[in-house]
Amino acid sequence: MRKLTVRILRAKPGQEKNAHFDEYCIEEKPRMSVLLVLDEIKETKDPSIYYESVCRSSICGSCAIKINGQPKLACKTQTSSLPDKITLEPLDVFPLIKDLAVDKSQFFEELNKKLETWVHRQKEFKNLDEKISEELASQLYESERCIECGICISACVAASCAKFMGASGCGKGLRFVLDPRNEDKEAIKKLISVLASDEGLWGCHGIGACEKFCPKEINLLKQLGKARIEVLKLIVKEWLKKPLKK
Ligand code: SF4
Ligand code: FES
Repeated sequence: MRKLTVRILRAKPGQEKNAHFDEYCIEEKPRMSVLLVLDEIKETKDPSIYYESVCRSSICGSCAIKINGQPKLACKTQTSSLPDKITLEPLDVFPLIKDLAVDKSQFFEELNKKLETWVHRQKEFKNLDEKISEELASQLYESERCIECGICISACVAASCAKFMGASGCGKGLRFVLDPRNEDKEAIKKLISVLASDEGLWGCHGIGACEKFCPKEINLLKQLGKARIEVLKLIVKEWLKKPLKK
């Protein structure tokens, strides 16, 4: 087994000048994840390092960090896929909590409020189970698979230096544009106005880092393309409804 040299960024918000790397040496174990590396360092060498994890199985998204410069889930990344020198830093874009932990809650809370990511219904449901086609169900499911890890946002140049909400936000928006149960026209108009802006789909530069790093392998570029088509179709439909000026 190899000896691993692990550098961890030690940082606190508002104290950027004091940010520095601490270095630790540990022995690699079989099937060791980066999260296990962090646990071992915390338990045997330095209890003060701070990072987050909940599910340990690629479900909660809380352990997303930068591993040798690339945003990844610490619980999913095996040390065997990395060189023996490993550098760990917090995700970009989000406010720092401490060391490797960032606060993503505010970002996703604002995003969900802005896009109103719930089904807007005026009519009562006739049946609790309203059937939709299998094809549409699998399209909706694709964006439901997002675990809000923030990796696609951290990896995206447009999201890090502009107002772009990121591929996961556009995917969530698409999910509510496509859902036939979401039948409140005003709510859909509002959703379209957010998506058809620089903050939404027009802010994407098509670089593709979102899809490259998404740990759930969501087809984000296809979702962005589909969202553009659906939004444009709705904009043209609204435009055609307007009376011609004489
Ligand atoms: Fe994470 Fe993928 Fe969701 Fe982006 S789309 S937040 S990378 S799971
Ligand atoms: Fe939940 Fe890694 S600990 S995704």
